[in-house]
Amino acid sequence: MLSKKMQIGLKDQLNRESESSQLYLSMASWVEKRGFEGVCEFLYDHSNEERTHMLKLMRYINKRGGDSILNKIDLSHEEIKYKCLKQLFRKLFEHEKKISHEINNLVELSLGDKDFFTYNFLQWYIEEQVEEETLIKMILDKIELIGEDKGGLYLFDKDIKDIHNNKKNKKF
Ligand code: FEO
Repeated sequence: MLSKKMQIGLKDQLNRESESSQLYLSMASWVEKRGFEGVCEFLYDHSNEERTHMLKLMRYINKRGGDSILNKIDLSHEEIKYKCLKQLFRKLFEHEKKISHEINNLVELSLGDKDFFTYNFLQWYIEEQVEEETLIKMILDKIELIGEDKGGLYLFDKDIKDIHNNKKNKKF
């Protein structure tokens, strides 16, 4: 059984993953309307990935006898309209860092609780966060380098398409 504290922590994370999925989705839509084909595919797919992160938590909580309640998502506090791609990816990077921080807190909590099942379960999220932070930072670095150059952004978009396809192929 999960402790009360652990249950609340996991439920909060479940809701963060659900919110992440919506955030990526809203960003994908913003980007799609501006013609960045590669970036938009990357973000749409990532929104689905976040949903699988949410599902994984939901099923784990249920399996361990907890209640996985979904909160209503409110993204109104987010600045959904971005000035540029750079701003969007900066926001994403900050978001992923925040998620990593929360996962770390959960791992700490599981150790404090001597809940080694949950500790083991969370290892997957740790690996995933390392991968995600690295990827988003790499994309952000590229955009910072390009600046506002239209030709550069066009090539960047093609690049993201390749990174995205390679990532996809690795998964299958
Ligand atoms: Fe599921 Fe991007 O963290």
